[in-house]
Amino acid sequence: MVKAVVLGAAGGIGQPLSLLLKTCSLISELRLYDVVNTPGVASDLSHISSLAKITGYLPANDGLEKTLTGADIVVIPAGIPRKPGMTRDDLFKINAGIVRELVTGIAKFCPKAFVLIISNPVNSTVPIAAEVLKAHNVFDATRLFGVTTLDVVRASTFTAEIVGEKDSRKIVVPVVGGHSGETIVPLLSLAQPACKIPADKLDGLVHRIQFGGDEVVAAKDGSGSATLSMAFAAQGEKGIIEPTFVYLPGVPGGEEVSKALGGIDFFAVPVELGPNGVVKATNPFPAISDYEKKLLAVAIKDLSGNIAKGVEFAKTAK
Ligand code: NAI
Repeated sequence: MVKAVVLGAAGGIGQPLSLLLKTCSLISELRLYDVVNTPGVASDLSHISSLAKITGYLPANDGLEKTLTGADIVVIPAGIPRKPGMTRDDLFKINAGIVRELVTGIAKFCPKAFVLIISNPVNSTVPIAAEVLKAHNVFDATRLFGVTTLDVVRASTFTAEIVGEKDSRKIVVPVVGGHSGETIVPLLSLAQPACKIPADKLDGLVHRIQFGGDEVVAAKDGSGSATLSMAFAAQGEKGIIEPTFVYLPGVPGGEEVSKALGGIDFFAVPVELGPNGVVKATNPFPAISDYEKKLLAVAIKDLSGNIAKGVEFAKTAK
């Protein structure tokens, strides 16, 4: 049985995610932490008849330490979301500091926990988390994940619309790279089952998968970003292989994948998961199309800058 923690649990993603985790039969204890409102959210969820015992904490009275001590899994949707016109990178200034503070707590109070980072820009916040864990000598790349599942969920939904499949769950499209704009690379040529995308629809579909988050930000008109679909994605699926944003040199199979990508350190690739974290990073790249190779080159260039920015912040910012 698992002790799970949500940091940022009172937010737009945090609340529905906590609801889904409260009803998950694998979780025996669920602790919610935020700078506001967690007692209320925890009280509300505690009335749901399910296994998980739930508690809410605020920063006062060593709240972060109490939340994290003994945790097996920590999910982090803490931080500000985008408003219309903003890129995920615009969030860096505030969210970098929040992630650094929270991951410092993880390093001190539950260094062996699995850490799932939702806070954007994921391309930079995961490298920040890795640096913080390294500085405390507790970094294990097989246990640190940037949550990119929403890109996979969107890819299935939008591809199903184009090929006329009513049940989008039947279509699985691997999505690699990072989690923003052109760093998101859907590998439609490897979709299962194989999907024939009409040539005149391909660019539009790829663009919609890369920039799908903007549709939600614009539709919510300043009141939030993708929260409900994100919460759905973060509860995870039951498959053994999931694309997720990992530190390649630190996971089995990762060196080979990094080499195939010209030496990049962090990348979302389909990863085989086991009870102790990453079992193996898989290398889908030998089989991709020429069109996807071009998308990949753009992604690698942008992503390298995002990674360097995160590492630099973690090493230098006070
Ligand atoms: P929100 O503003 O509704 O919620 C964020 C929560 O974090 C708030 O309750 C806030 O009080 C809390 N918070 C702020 N500072 C904190 C701290 N130091 N410690 C603990 N909690 C703190 O935002 P929303 O919509 O839930 O988004 C959260 C993050 O997730 C954003 O950065 C957003 O960009 C990102 N996101 C990531 C996605 C992904 O696919 N990885 C998809 C959609 C959003």
